[in-house]
Amino acid sequence: MSDKLIVDTPSHQYPIFFESACDMAEWVMPFIQGKQVLIVTNETVEPLYLQALQTGLAERFFVEVCVLPDGEVYKTQQYINQIYDVLMARHFNRDVTLIALGGGVIGDMTGFAAATFMRGVNFIQIPTTLLSQVDSSVGGKTGINHPQGKNMIGAFWQPRMVLADMHTLKTLPKRELSAGMAEVIKYALIMDVSFLSWLEDNMSALMRLDMQVMKEAVARCCQYKAKIVAEDERESGKRALLNFGHTFGHVIETHEGYGKWLHGEAVAVGMLQATQLSYKMGWLSQQDVLRVRNILQAANLPIEPPKITVAQAKTLMSHDKKVKSGQLRLILLKSLGSAVVTADFDEALLDEVLDSTQ
Ligand SMILES: NC(=O)c1ccc[n+]([C@@H]2O[C@H](COP(=O)([O-])OP(=O)(O)OC[C@H]3O[C@@H](n4cnc5c(N)ncnc54)[C@H](O)[C@@H]3O)[C@@H](O)[C@H]2O)c1
Ligand SMILES: [Zn+2]
Repeated sequence: MSDKLIVDTPSHQYPIFFESACDMAEWVMPFIQGKQVLIVTNETVEPLYLQALQTGLAERFFVEVCVLPDGEVYKTQQYINQIYDVLMARHFNRDVTLIALGGGVIGDMTGFAAATFMRGVNFIQIPTTLLSQVDSSVGGKTGINHPQGKNMIGAFWQPRMVLADMHTLKTLPKRELSAGMAEVIKYALIMDVSFLSWLEDNMSALMRLDMQVMKEAVARCCQYKAKIVAEDERESGKRALLNFGHTFGHVIETHEGYGKWLHGEAVAVGMLQATQLSYKMGWLSQQDVLRVRNILQAANLPIEPPKITVAQAKTLMSHDKKVKSGQLRLILLKSLGSAVVTADFDEALLDEVLDSTQ
């Protein structure tokens, strides 16, 4: 597998590099225009990875840093203002390059700042979580939360380049690694059953962070996501498949209160529920369901939903954005490796799946 992927969107073309323990400054340098650089990171990632990048870039550029507090709760207008404040205070202009150094929260915020500062400036991503390497850094979605809804304010803004350094995953908490792995497994289930077999063979190597194997997994995931995004940059059709397990997962996230379950953990249970419904619809075998359950367990992901009544789950589901004209649409599997968006499922079977008291 090549260590580089060119992402092709209708608006733009850019490379993602898959590296391990690389000199970050050297890799991003060719993609910086002008002399001004603003690195945005958070308090957790800063002590781990900032210094090498900053010192390397300072040899050739004027480098400023904006360190935000760590957490989804800071993905707000108030905190994105801190990014604008540094840009304004330093009199940075249209030639500035914004570099996101961190997970999906930092990536989404920095991308949105880049999309909006002076109507759009150069943007580079250095994703440092598994989730951000395989998911949020591909596809050009950027944004922040509103008190009344996640990711409600945003823009499509593609980076000039993405540098995914697998080595950064070594400092990632194990729970976050597993949560990211849920999205990795998702690609296999919706796109490619041969990738599922590959994951079955390689999950233990991935979980102990074998860099070569991890590189291949991340590169394959980016390829899957890039393929979907290339076909559907503005999310009209195929991109919805990426929400596999997410409608079910959102029920758990909202019911339990955001923060208690990591997104990927809720998605893991959600994917199993969607798989169970696909089985009840007669599309999958019992053996298929077992494979999904086993691969989630191999990634140390939960497979049991918390106690939520069917009625509660249905109410929460009806608030999901995939409800079109009052009709709930779910992403189900026609077979392992092949997903469909459908409103054509049996409600009674959905209730059976949602009944966690069984
Ligand atoms: N733009 C998109 O298409 C898209 C897609 C999926 C998710 N998202 C967004 O991504 C966000 C979630 O991203 P995430 O899961 O990366 O969460 P995150 O950015 O909150 O990172 C998770 C935790 O890991 C820490 N961390 C990051 N890198 C580390 C490292 N190398 N070592 C040690 N700790 C590290 C962070 O500080 C944080 O505490 C959400 O806001 C979500 O909305 C966006
Ligand atoms: Zn997700």
